Amino acid sequence: MRKIIVNALDKRSRINRNIYGNFSEHLGRCIYNGLYVGEGSSIPNINGMRTDVVEALKHIKLPVLRWPGGCFADEYHWKDGIGPKAGRKRMVNTHWGGVIEDNSFGTHEFLEFCRQVGCEPYINGNLGSGTVQEMSEWVEYMTFGGESPMARLREENGRKEPWRIKYFGVGNESWGCGGNMQAEYYAHEYRRYQTYCRDYGENKLYRIACGPYTDDYDWTEKIMPMVKDFADAITMHYYAVPKGKWDQKGPATGFTREAYYATLQAAAYMEELVTKHGQIMDKYDPEHKVGLIVDEWGTWYDVEPGTNPGFLYQQNTMRDAMAAALTLNIFNSHCDRVVMANIAQMVNVLQAVILTEGDKMVLTPTYHVFDLYKCHQDARLLGSFAETEDVGGVADLSISASMDSEGTVHVTAANLDADRRLEIELEASGMRVNSAAGRILAGNMGAFNDFDHPKNLEPAVLEDIATAGGRVRFMLPGCSVAEITVR
Ligand code: AHR
Repeated sequence: MRKIIVNALDKRSRINRNIYGNFSEHLGRCIYNGLYVGEGSSIPNINGMRTDVVEALKHIKLPVLRWPGGCFADEYHWKDGIGPKAGRKRMVNTHWGGVIEDNSFGTHEFLEFCRQVGCEPYINGNLGSGTVQEMSEWVEYMTFGGESPMARLREENGRKEPWRIKYFGVGNESWGCGGNMQAEYYAHEYRRYQTYCRDYGENKLYRIACGPYTDDYDWTEKIMPMVKDFADAITMHYYAVPKGKWDQKGPATGFTREAYYATLQAAAYMEELVTKHGQIMDKYDPEHKVGLIVDEWGTWYDVEPGTNPGFLYQQNTMRDAMAAALTLNIFNSHCDRVVMANIAQMVNVLQAVILTEGDKMVLTPTYHVFDLYKCHQDARLLGSFAETEDVGGVADLSISASMDSEGTVHVTAANLDADRRLEIELEASGMRVNSAAGRILAGNMGAFNDFDHPKNLEPAVLEDIATAGGRVRFMLPGCSVAEITVR
């Protein structure tokens, strides 16, 4: 019998709902034929946005969506994507697959998508190949409500009222595809660009500076003292690649047990990254005024055979669900610093929550983890402990616990062991336990949903749960994740 102890009196920071954010880039079939099909499509849509995708995202309460990239962001010139569609520039997407980008999805369309889903937009500006003026005018175009050239242009394009934009990123991966800059150089540029991203009227920008890739602690050391007074948050990117071997990532399906555990080990590394970058941030920002935003995370494998290598299309199995469950538990437990995270990417790219093909849509096991974990959004993290054993180089049981505004306790628990079931006893101290219920997602490590079997894996009611003497007992089969509600 394994022990989980949750202390209902040990209320910690609020778990920012934005930890459950997504990322969408002009990459492969994420935007086009992913979330957007155009007004004339036979696929059900509202103003060109796929209705099935919008409804699915509403169900998981998607809080925030990042766009337009990624590497694409530092080549994106926003004026190419406004005005009558017939007149918009057609160009090659040089980063991703060398395909035609017709700019039919631009600022108005992205903000319309966010409106339909009910999520906050997070716009990533172009620092790599764009000018200060261009970035400044984008903010003016979107958020200025008075008399100005950009406000007039917006009105000419059919939108009189300004939008409310909070999250604004200044460059993406500026140490790499965003300009190959050195840390100090980027920090200077950041300070300059963000100066001209104005707060108009009631609209207050939440300014986001480009942080490190993975374990580049030097980047964090160098930029923090230079940007901390000008940024609300810095970013961090990390992808879980089995054994960290980019040239031998392996397939998304049909993998070995060794690859399963190697992927979970790679996902578990997020704990060290967030801790160490957080420690550096603590030195310069002990009051935690500057947040850490992990705005690209997820698993990365070889593309599906026969697909465009530049489209980064991969299937999504229970292995991905376990990696997501583990990573989200890590973010929850660091919610005093991690204020947002955006899985890469939302539709048809990398660790997608949704896959589409024509008019068909599949909700992946990763989607179902976001569904199970939505209970944590804006709840207070609770102190918790789980008894674990090592399996394949990772702790076999990963948990996090929170209390929502009604005093209900939610525990998410993942049994990462591919095979062995765990009998669990949950003790909730500091509260009277009257009842407990749960939902569970379970399956073989390599199981997935496809277009012919879209409901192969779905959360089910956790039958094997009972309360006795103020304790909750339940069973987690190997390779499963559950949400337990304790009242
Ligand atoms: O998500 C795919 C790519 O990975 C992004 O465009 C880039 O920022 C990162 O390197």
